[in-house]
Amino acid sequence: MKAYIAENKQRFLDELFDFLRIPSISADSNHKGDMLTAAQFVETKLQEAGMDKTEICPTDGHPIVFAEKFIDASLPTILVYGHYDVQPADPINLWDSPPFEPVIKKTALHPEGAIFARGACDDKGQIYMHIKAIEAMVAKNELNCNVKIMFEGEEEIGSENLATFVKANKEKLKADIILISDTAIIANDIPSVETGLRGLAYMEVEVTGPNKDLHSGVYGGAVDNPINVLTKMIASLHDENGKITVEGFYDKVIELSLEERAALEAAPFNLGEYKKDLDIAEVNGEKGYTTRERAAIRPTLDVNGIWGGYTGEGSKTVLASKAFAKISMRLVPNQDWNEISDLFTSHFLKIAPKTVKVKVSKHHGGQPYVTPTDSIGYQAAFKAMEEGYGKTPVPTRGGGSIPIVALFEKELGLKSILLGFGLDSDSIHSPNEHYGVFNFLKGIETIPLFYKYFKELSNA
Ligand code: BES
Ligand code: MN
Ligand code: MN
Repeated sequence: MKAYIAENKQRFLDELFDFLRIPSISADSNHKGDMLTAAQFVETKLQEAGMDKTEICPTDGHPIVFAEKFIDASLPTILVYGHYDVQPADPINLWDSPPFEPVIKKTALHPEGAIFARGACDDKGQIYMHIKAIEAMVAKNELNCNVKIMFEGEEEIGSENLATFVKANKEKLKADIILISDTAIIANDIPSVETGLRGLAYMEVEVTGPNKDLHSGVYGGAVDNPINVLTKMIASLHDENGKITVEGFYDKVIELSLEERAALEAAPFNLGEYKKDLDIAEVNGEKGYTTRERAAIRPTLDVNGIWGGYTGEGSKTVLASKAFAKISMRLVPNQDWNEISDLFTSHFLKIAPKTVKVKVSKHHGGQPYVTPTDSIGYQAAFKAMEEGYGKTPVPTRGGGSIPIVALFEKELGLKSILLGFGLDSDSIHSPNEHYGVFNFLKGIETIPLFYKYFKELSNA
């Protein structure tokens, strides 16, 4: 297997580069054609890798690529999930090289080079590892599980059409485990396997004051300014201890035991390097929790964008009629995203002064998720990482969200294994996203080990 990967390394990279050149931005309707091109690219590569049956399944949004390879009814079936859509690349001027023209450059954490492109790590580079791992297993006659593939084009915009597809295709998606590479390890010399993801509730608020924009000299001071009001309302959403003030927000949160917290804290972490990497003098967050806990096992509330009034060149004296913000909350077990969205809505309406009208609307969301570490799937991932990296991996909890994962469990009764190979510092969703060449190749090497151990443990 290792020899096959080494011999074909350059071709694997060239193909991934072709894939990365397709600007498959799901959020931007101008790229609808590119989404189909990317889906077709993936389908062709799955055929070349040796999958028996492949199809592009249309949805009300972007298509889903589905493929199957059946070996034997006595063998377990692995359903691989991932996404071929990427986040928008803006602000483009902050990229050191164009986002859809991949290049390899060395970095401090990637001395062997990293591929710089939008989607390099999230998630095109990581789904491509699966296609190449399957190619290698088929070529070497070592594929020892049945495989199904489901790559969607709407993960970055909430997976709504995939949810419909899953509910309508339970038989087609029958499997023993779901395998996903769309998360991170601690460091290239510290392998880890994530045991959970946070949920998400994403809201948008609109604050309206006077019925038109006003001269801020003629009216300023006498009429409440929606931007002033909105920022004050937002500021009140956290108290002085960094706790979220939305009534009922923490009611269902499962507190981890001290043992569980200690186990997660045992994973290596360097706060100095963390701050240095981000160029910040101090960290800040909920009192009583460490930086890693704040970013993984605790729920949060953040403004993702805020706008209103004049933001063009120079200055304009204006008291805007409206102000807006996009606010997301990361959720932990046992919070329910619909419930939290409702709690947020009532709270935000309640704290609004009489001087303004407030509208709150709900975008997408998803439930939090955890995988038991004593399950066969988790154990197989653990052993695969151990053999792949030659080091005992560390269990971690991820702070990000893959909303469809909880739905997989609810609708298909299947657990998902988060076998990700990125680094938190790979700048996913940011300018200069990259993915280590080492990580890409190590992933291709490690995925077949998951198959091997999953089959072994399933028979045991
Ligand atoms: N791959 C990420 C999620 C992720 C990143 C999990 C790092 C764990 C570690 C995924 O593509 C993503 O960005 N998800 C979105 C949610 C979606 C609804 C937009 C997120 O977490 O913001
Ligand atoms: Mn992703
Ligand atoms: Mn993402």
